[in-house]
This record gives sequence, C-alpha cells and structure tokens, in this order.
Amino acid sequence: MSKPLKIAVAGLGTVGAGVIKMIQTHGDLLARRAGRPLEIVAVSARSKGKDRGVDLSNYAWEDDPVALAKRDDVDLFVEVMGGEDGPAKASCEAALAAGKHVVTANKAMLALHGQPMAELAESTGAALRFEAAVAGGIPIVKALTEGLAGNGIARVMGVMNGTCNYILTKMENTGASYDDVLKEAQALGYAEAEPTVDVGGIDAAHKLSLLAATAFGTRVDFGKVEIEGIQRITLQDIKNAADMGYKIKLLGVAQQNEDGIEQRMQPCLVPTASPLGQLEGVSNMVVVEGDFIGQTVYQGPGAGEGPTASAILGDIMDIARGLIIPAFGQPAAGLAQPNSSSKGSDAAYYLRFSLTDAPGTLAKLASILGAHDVSINRMHQYGHNGKTAPLVIVTHTTPRAALDTALAEICALSASLAEPVALRIESL
Ligand code: NAP
Ligand code: HSE
Repeated sequence: MSKPLKIAVAGLGTVGAGVIKMIQTHGDLLARRAGRPLEIVAVSARSKGKDRGVDLSNYAWEDDPVALAKRDDVDLFVEVMGGEDGPAKASCEAALAAGKHVVTANKAMLALHGQPMAELAESTGAALRFEAAVAGGIPIVKALTEGLAGNGIARVMGVMNGTCNYILTKMENTGASYDDVLKEAQALGYAEAEPTVDVGGIDAAHKLSLLAATAFGTRVDFGKVEIEGIQRITLQDIKNAADMGYKIKLLGVAQQNEDGIEQRMQPCLVPTASPLGQLEGVSNMVVVEGDFIGQTVYQGPGAGEGPTASAILGDIMDIARGLIIPAFGQPAAGLAQPNSSSKGSDAAYYLRFSLTDAPGTLAKLASILGAHDVSINRMHQYGHNGKTAPLVIVTHTTPRAALDTALAEICALSASLAEPVALRIESL
C-alpha cells in the first residue's frame, strides 16, 4: 500500500469531531478504497482540555492553527473552525502557500475569498475543496464539477439551510413558536454560532454564491446575491400558503438570464406537491438544470455532524486517490467576471398587508396595484377587528420592478400599518 495521507484537523466542534470519528470508525475501509491509509497526525482547537467525545491521545496538539497548517508532517489541512477571516483564512492560506491540500466546510470564507484562495491553491499545485460547505452531506459540488461537467447549466436552485427548513417545517407541523424551534436547531448542532446568519439567509446565500460560481464558471460574487431571511414569516403565512397548495421555503436560485446572472436567496412559495415542497426538517435539496441532461434533483441532510463529516471525507478521499480538481471546476484564472442580471425574472407573488380596517382602504390599494399593471389573481381578508385588517393578495405574473414601485406607494399610505410582506411564487 502507498504511503499514508497525513492529515491535520483545525477545529474540533460538531464537524471536526465528526471527521475524526469517521476516520477512526472507517480507517480500514477508507484505506482500502483510497489505496493508502488516512492518518490524522495533529489537531487544534481553542481549549485543549475540552472533552469532545473522541479519543485525541494519538495526535499532536497545536494551539495555533497556522502552526498546524505549516507542519512538515502534514499533507492535507482540514479547516473546520469557521469564520470568514481570522485564523480560518490565515491557516488555509498558510497551508496552500506551503503546497498542502485544504479541505474546508467554511462557506463564509470562500464566499468572500474563494477566488484568491483558488488562485493560490493552483499556484502551488494544492487542492482546495469545499463539498461540505454547500448543502451538507449532498455531493452537489462533485455533481456539478464531475457528473454534469459536460452540460451548460441554466439554473441551479434549492433549499440549502437546514436550520431554516427545520424551523419552517416544525412550525407548520407542530404550531411551535419560531424561537422554540430555533433553540432546538441550535441544540442539535445545525445552526451557525450566530443564528441570524442562518435565519437571515446569509449562510444559504454564501452557499448559493459558491454553487453559482461552480455552475456558471464565474468568479464568486457574494455581494450580488439578493438576500432576505425568514424572520418575517409568520405561522399565519405558512397556513395561508398551505391553504393555497404551497409551502414556504428559504429558496436560493442562481440562473443565467439574457443580461447576466441572477442570484437570490429569499423565502418563496413552492407547490406542496413538488419535491421542494415535500422537503422536511434539516434536509437540503438542490435542483440543477443542464442543457443536455434536463432537470436533476439532489436531496440529503444539510447539516449536523455525520452529514458534514461525510462530505469532508468525500473530498479527502479524492485527494488521497490523487484526484486534484480546480476548486470551482475550472482553472481559477479562467473564471469570468460575472455580469449581474439587472431586472430579474418575472413571477407571481404572495403579498400580505396590514391595513387599517376603514372604508376605501382596499380600493386605494387595488388602484395602486392596477396603476402599475400588477394584476390580482386571488385575495383573502381575515381576522379584521374594526381597527386592523390583514389582507393577503396573490398576483398574476408581474415584473419585479413594477411590484416594488407599487409596494413602496402602498407602504406610504396612512392606512398601511406595517411594511408589506412579498413572497415570490417560484415556478419549478
Ligand atoms: P463549532 O461546533 O462551533 O466548532 C468550531 C471549532 O473550531 C471548535 O472546536 C473551536 O474550538 C474551534 N475554533 C474556533 N476558533 C478557533 C481558533 N481561533 N483557533 C483554534 N480553534 C478554533 O462549529 P461547527 O458547527 O463544527 O462548524 C465548523 C465549520 O463548518 C464552520 O465553517 C461551519 O459553517 C461549517 N459547517 C458546519 C455545519 C454543521 O452542521 N455544523 C455544516 C456545514 C458546514 P473550541 O471547541 O475549543 O471552542
Ligand atoms: N447552519 C447551517 C445549516 C449548517 O443550518 O444548514 C450547514 O451549513
């Protein structure tokens, strides 16, 4: 058997402990499959004494992850500390500069620094791999860079944040409050250290920007992702959507429009009967549309110790076998500067207004929508009490700009008591 692949692991939390467990559990299996043993040589975290549920006694300890990355006895550096800058970035750069392979689950870091890091990796002949950074255990980066490599990609979309899908489906299924379900997701190890990164859509937007770069051969452009979180979604919205045959999902879409790439991460309505509508709990789903293959759908657990470790091991195994693929599926220097689509694609919308319950209010609102060519498909007023009147409207397909202008005018009405909620109804 060939010489071992020597591995360092920086970060011993949910993901790092999972990686170590997997290598310890499947050592023989992995060695047979790779044709060489995988050997963890050293680890790092903040607190040396902490019990992490895994035996670390055979590994050297480094307090400093940069020193860990530079060790002479390390071939491959696993970064699972998190954080877009700081020790994560410094240690990955140190490893790549020294020609050591890097496997990371850190979408925040790559969404912001993916291009220069990919260039650095290629300059030293090292691999930079990030399967675990997108959609947890689903091998979607591999699907795009390998299995679908012959296709032009038109659209890639999906549910890519386990915490948000867990919250939305658990609220619907149990009627539990948003806060209680978020606490559960944190206890189960799904959520990011700062929960607004999850519920605000930022974590999923990081992932979408990485998929868009991989799918369209462009430089990662996180700044151009339109982002809206799930914080304003109420149980009533979930029920209203269900009554109309829809589910609310935090959906990411990256698509090639005529004038450039559209990237958005926002709560959307999807048909209940669709695969995305059926997605429950912490699961993720990614849908890829290729010009020769048509539509393909990938589903699996999107977060947690086991699924994330599984994705990391997939990358490690490739490297152990000598498969060095450019980070975004093509040499970094050839990745194009992306053009952003200026107007976005048209869609129907679910709108929820909170209005004063007074004569003429509905007429004013309807006339503003009409003046901007926004056509009403269905309407439902509920729970009005003489003072306030929640109103739900579903529009016909409309250009986004026209809807935005109409909503701004409605918002300025004295009868408007809160900013309207507008959720796109995604065509699948
Ligand atoms: P976590 O449980 O909070 O673990 C983070 C680990 O990094 C801890 O062991 C911590 O040390 C260590 N660490 C933090 N700062 C450090 C520093 N300055 N120097 C050395 N060690 C440091 O986080 P996680 O959930 O495993 O996530 C790790 C990464 O994976 C993040 O990038 C996250 O976005 C990504 N990810 C997570 C999941 C998931 O389901 N959890 C899924 C996909 C991707 P101490 O333990 O000593 O404090
Ligand atoms: N916090 C993330 C989620 C972890 O909930 O999906 C996986 O990236």
